[in-house]
Amino acid sequence: MSAELTAADAPAKRLSDYRPYPFTLETVRLDFTLDPDATEVRAGLSFSPRQEAAALELDGEDLELVSVAVDGRALTPDDYELSKTGLTIPANALPSQPFTLETVTRIAPSKNTALEGLYMSNGMYCTQCEAEGFRKITFYPDRPDVMARFHVTITGDQPVLLANGDLVESRDGYAEWVDPWPKPAYLFALVAGDLRAHSGTFTTMSGREVATNIWVRPGDEDRCDFALQALHRSMRWDEEAYGREYDLDIFNIVAVDDFNMGAMENKGLNIFNSKWVLASPETATDADYERIEGIIAHEYFHNWTGNRITCRDWFQLCLKEGLTVYRDQQFTGDMRGHATKRIDDVLALRGRQFREDRGPLSHPPRPDHYREINNFYTATVYEKGAEIVGMLHRLLGHEGYRAALDLYFERHDGQACTIEDWLKVFEDSSGRDLSQFKRWYTDAGTPTLRVRDSFKDGTYTLEFEQETRPTPGQSEKLPRHIPIEVGLLSENGDEVVPSTVLEMTEAKQSFTFDGLATRPVPSILRDFSAPVRLERDADTSELAFLLTHDRDPFNRWEAGRALAQKVLIGRVLGQETDASFSDAIGALLRDETADPAFRALCLNLPSEDSIAQALYDQGETPDPAAIYAAREGLARDLATAHKTLLAEIFTSSEATGPYSSDPEQAGPRALRLAVLRLLNRIDGGARAGALFASAENMTESLGALAALVQTGQDAAAMAEFRDRWQGDRLVMDKWFLVQLANCPPEMALERAKALTGDPLFTWKTPNRFRALMAGLSGNHAGFHRADGASYRFYADWLLKLDPVNPQVAARMSTAFETWTRYDEGRREKMRSELERIAAQPGLSRDLSEMTQRLLG
Ligand code: ARG
Ligand code: ZN
Repeated sequence: MSAELTAADAPAKRLSDYRPYPFTLETVRLDFTLDPDATEVRAGLSFSPRQEAAALELDGEDLELVSVAVDGRALTPDDYELSKTGLTIPANALPSQPFTLETVTRIAPSKNTALEGLYMSNGMYCTQCEAEGFRKITFYPDRPDVMARFHVTITGDQPVLLANGDLVESRDGYAEWVDPWPKPAYLFALVAGDLRAHSGTFTTMSGREVATNIWVRPGDEDRCDFALQALHRSMRWDEEAYGREYDLDIFNIVAVDDFNMGAMENKGLNIFNSKWVLASPETATDADYERIEGIIAHEYFHNWTGNRITCRDWFQLCLKEGLTVYRDQQFTGDMRGHATKRIDDVLALRGRQFREDRGPLSHPPRPDHYREINNFYTATVYEKGAEIVGMLHRLLGHEGYRAALDLYFERHDGQACTIEDWLKVFEDSSGRDLSQFKRWYTDAGTPTLRVRDSFKDGTYTLEFEQETRPTPGQSEKLPRHIPIEVGLLSENGDEVVPSTVLEMTEAKQSFTFDGLATRPVPSILRDFSAPVRLERDADTSELAFLLTHDRDPFNRWEAGRALAQKVLIGRVLGQETDASFSDAIGALLRDETADPAFRALCLNLPSEDSIAQALYDQGETPDPAAIYAAREGLARDLATAHKTLLAEIFTSSEATGPYSSDPEQAGPRALRLAVLRLLNRIDGGARAGALFASAENMTESLGALAALVQTGQDAAAMAEFRDRWQGDRLVMDKWFLVQLANCPPEMALERAKALTGDPLFTWKTPNRFRALMAGLSGNHAGFHRADGASYRFYADWLLKLDPVNPQVAARMSTAFETWTRYDEGRREKMRSELERIAAQPGLSRDLSEMTQRLLG
């Protein structure tokens, strides 16, 4: 359908080409008459020219143009140019005064499988416009710096008709919505369907009542309360932490089953993948609850960081995303504990962003060119973007950060901004020069920080060296401004120098600490104060010491992780390793004072993918089968060495009383499941089987199932689970995923193939497609089979999905982003799959850009 216009060689868009739009757009009137095959969209756009003799260029794709008029006068096709990407009205057909452009277009939501623009999901109409979906609804200047007030009417026979803003009129089959806040088109939303609301009210800090609603399909109403309460907590938190009050009388959230991403912050009408709204103890895990709370908060927080202050252009995406992720991380930390949240976030950052940064897809948080912006909703833009905000916070301190944010809201409310605007508020409010710091936004790659230390005459010296490898298109790297939080411990574990932030700005830089009686043990990069790869030759006894004594919980955990990684790498490379890791785990298992969630995190061994990455970073070629064997071997050895302690914890940490997803219950549950995963390696699946049979909540049920899958002895449990949950789409996604991601590697591909024949494999639904494919690619050794058969299977499915849903196909192609890590044989096989995809006639712009970048 859109194949030829999204040609492989569409020119790149460049940041340096930015030009302001030559018109201002004050108001937008949109009248929708809904029909699955022929929805009519009447648009009235009131423009004022900002320049003389400018042509009016409007974006538009896959639209049927019915009519165009200027100030009520119909234009004929001779008056304008219509192309596959838009409509241009030359200056001579336009008045030089403000004018109204009226268009009528027709679209077919039922045929929209790409899920961008107006589409249908289970008979309901919904929209996704970010980044450039609005141009599939009507002809429009579809760019974020054009902000207008929208007035929307909807005519349709659906019982519920929603759009942005406040509802001004509503009767059977008709609704009228007015959004008083100027916004870019990507924040437009419309929903129509047979929906039920779970409703509440929130009283804002100035005493205004806001109606809050979670809209879902009939039957799902009883799974919404957690999301609704999470919304209220988010609204309160943003008032307290940032002084931000909600600005409409109503806030709606809609759950949609077919959705390309997680959720979307449309003004006053957030649309969510139902996976991130619906929760009940029987169907959602503790981790799901925490994610739901975090995503509800994220989208809500966008109301100020994204909507009231938006992005000038899509290169600035991390302006809203990095900041909003940082805010949702702070929120979750406040709700559930900062230590474990930080560890979870760093695990995700390393697992996704460091991985991205180390391969062919590496790009700056603010890229300077792209072909398809949807390909830049990445871990670098989001998670590294959040790390950068965290560094600013650390550099300026709490008061300084808050002052900068106050200035940001005061100075830029109602504007479309850039990273320069953002950094300027920090400079102006603190008087600091952040020009070097800005490199974090413009430069790609993860810096490596090497550290050496020395001690002489009471003076301790830390000598740092930073280096960033070349990344695609950026061969030379200048030193970054790196906040390094450090504390020093004495040999009995006392903190002799409390946490302090060292500011590194040179390629090589030393910091000294005087007046010390004995040589201290350093705790470096506390709280993970910068997104760098710390390289330090700490011996195992020092790591074990930090794991026991560090006051900084992140670095305590980090020491354990570094120890585990050392042992695993030693095993993979067939080197001698000592018992210090096992001893440290023993000490941790005995330490009942430590937070259970924290202990659970320490018990989880590094992922196979992260071990592969670590080997690659050390200049070794990772062997997936050897990594799998080493990790299994270590797990078995730990289980054997500590079986009595583990068994005691498994028994004593059983929760009592009704289910709650609060940390008080979720922590012990996480510990118990981490223990189960170890014991499972030596008890023949006995405990997992028993837990699976008795579990009353999804956390335990899925935890037990995952353990059974690990041994490959899961056929009966899988069948039982399927029988019970086949009517529940969200639970069935878990079923598809868990049996692939966790199974012995030699089973993964055969299982994946068989599962594609399951009638429940509705592959056009993004969640289902992702569950199966991410399950396979998440099985590291199974995906990287030496014969390349998994690569072929995976590539075949990307090619099959691409014409239906290019966005999801492109995103899933990142399974290949690590291809350069591996041995010649695997590299060649992955490369030839990428080349096969790239050569496909009619490939989407999305997937074409991805394969080209992947191939380098
Ligand atoms: N702004 C949304 C969020 O972070 C993500 C939407 C991205 N959608 C897309 N098609 N690229 O909450
Ligand atoms: Zn976001």
